[in-house]
Amino acid sequence: MMCARLTTIFLLLIVLKRREAVLRKLPVLKYIAQHDDLNKFYSQLYMSALSRSSLNYREVTVFAPVNEAFRRFGGDLNQNLTSYHVAYNAYRLRDLNTYLEPIQKGLPPLWVTKLNGDIYVNNAMILLSRSDYHANNRQDNLGKPQVLHIIDEVLDPIATNLENPQSAYDFLRKSKDYGVKKFVRKIEEYKLEDLFNEDGGNTYFIPADEAMDEYKSKMTDSYIIKAHIIPKRVLFTRPVPKNSIYDTLADVDYIYILLSFLNEKDRYYVKSNTILGDATHQNGEIKSEIIHANIPVKNGVIHIIKRPLGVFDKILTKFPYLPILDKLSNDPYLNITYNLGEKSGFNQLLSQPKKFTFFVPKDQAWSSLKNLYDYDKLLRLGYMNEIKKVLGRHLIVGDIPYSMETLYNASSSNCVYLKTSSGRACFTILYKSGDKKFVIKWNNIYIDVYKANYECSNGLIHIIDRPLVTNSDYENVPEESGSFLQLWNALHKILTS
Ligand SMILES: *[C@@H]1O[C@H](CO)[C@@H](O)[C@H](O)[C@H]1NC(C)=O
Ligand SMILES: *[C@@H]1O[C@H](CO)[C@@H](O)[C@H](O)[C@H]1NC(C)=O
Ligand SMILES: *[C@@H]1O[C@H](CO)[C@@H](O)[C@H](O)[C@H]1NC(C)=O
Repeated sequence: MMCARLTTIFLLLIVLKRREAVLRKLPVLKYIAQHDDLNKFYSQLYMSALSRSSLNYREVTVFAPVNEAFRRFGGDLNQNLTSYHVAYNAYRLRDLNTYLEPIQKGLPPLWVTKLNGDIYVNNAMILLSRSDYHANNRQDNLGKPQVLHIIDEVLDPIATNLENPQSAYDFLRKSKDYGVKKFVRKIEEYKLEDLFNEDGGNTYFIPADEAMDEYKSKMTDSYIIKAHIIPKRVLFTRPVPKNSIYDTLADVDYIYILLSFLNEKDRYYVKSNTILGDATHQNGEIKSEIIHANIPVKNGVIHIIKRPLGVFDKILTKFPYLPILDKLSNDPYLNITYNLGEKSGFNQLLSQPKKFTFFVPKDQAWSSLKNLYDYDKLLRLGYMNEIKKVLGRHLIVGDIPYSMETLYNASSSNCVYLKTSSGRACFTILYKSGDKKFVIKWNNIYIDVYKANYECSNGLIHIIDRPLVTNSDYENVPEESGSFLQLWNALHKILTS
């Protein structure tokens, strides 16, 4: 009785064992075909002759992305991409280490990272509970072992080559899609190509051209280039521990730059910290967004970043402001006002130790009248007092200069009386919000302000599109001078037309 029961249990065990064995014998390709949530990958395999034949005949490890991963994948699904999911040799989970070699020549290695009990291949996570399926490709004794792991992201080789996979340097030199020419030129200038070609696995950060302005390019020296390399580690953005500190190759007695990864609101960043610097390598942190992450290459991984690490923005010192007279004499567009002021003696007013608000007609403002008068002749005339008086209307001398905004506020309800060098006058300031321009209304004449609030050491210049002259200016013309008369007559014509 006892014996019969044991026998029954024993037989049952054998049956169970056989059933399990039969199930487990299903080769990997068939196993994939039977799982609905792998059918996207299955159809990819079906279209890739190399992948299919490898699964039929070789010892391989297969990384199968779930359908959901394909739904999220934005890239191009081609045969190279499919082949990148199949690697030589059968690696059970416990055997996965460092990297695997894909069955197709010229594709980068598949990099393995372990973090807190999880295992990643490149940036994809292996779904451990569903992985480690292993079976022979055929049931006779010629069968080759195969292993299947299920992953949650599609593996994209990005860089393909005919024979050898590309090194970081090969990739950077050839790639046109990522806009990194300027940094590559720097690598070549400092003859550091070897660092980007050397075997083993490094992590490379490459700043995009947009951020490499003249200043940042200039500051990118060999230390800065080396600060963009984390040696002996292949760090993909998902499995890398965040906020952990990594040494870079910029690690000498007097320059020491460290890097760490950050993840904020679904974006990845790398942060440099210059611990030791010198006159040209400022201490402190720079955070740079990773804009194209996880490009696998033969000797590691590349991340394209938004701005160079270890290089600070140029410190903009405020342009040292010039006194108004210097500004006028140096500005080719304000030459006429300056010259009229010189000849008439008006400019002496601008030498007082005071603050000025000066409405300066630009040359064009005078020139719009200029074909109507002989400018050189005008300067030779003896009627400089008239000119001085006209210029004086444009100048307010005081203890503070007035910005256009201040004048605008002050004249908002009516006009504001300003004490000009030629007497009190009423100004109304209007604002054209469409053009974002101020307009001066003076003696019922509307004058556009071409440029407001040009700062000088002793005041503000407002450059205007028309001189402050009126019809009545022509009525008291000094009769002695034909030319002067001609000028005022001409002005008169313009202003009354
Ligand atoms: C696949 O890789 C080979 C080798 O680099 C390349 O010539 C071919 O254009 C690639 N095919 C696709 C579809 O990218
Ligand atoms: C300014 O005007 C003077 C006098 O007409 C002329 O000699 C000079 O070349 C002008 N300078 C500029 C920069 O236009
Ligand atoms: C102009 O007036 C507005 C509203 O009262 C005020 O907010 C602004 O500061 C004033 N601007 C100047 C330059 O006085």
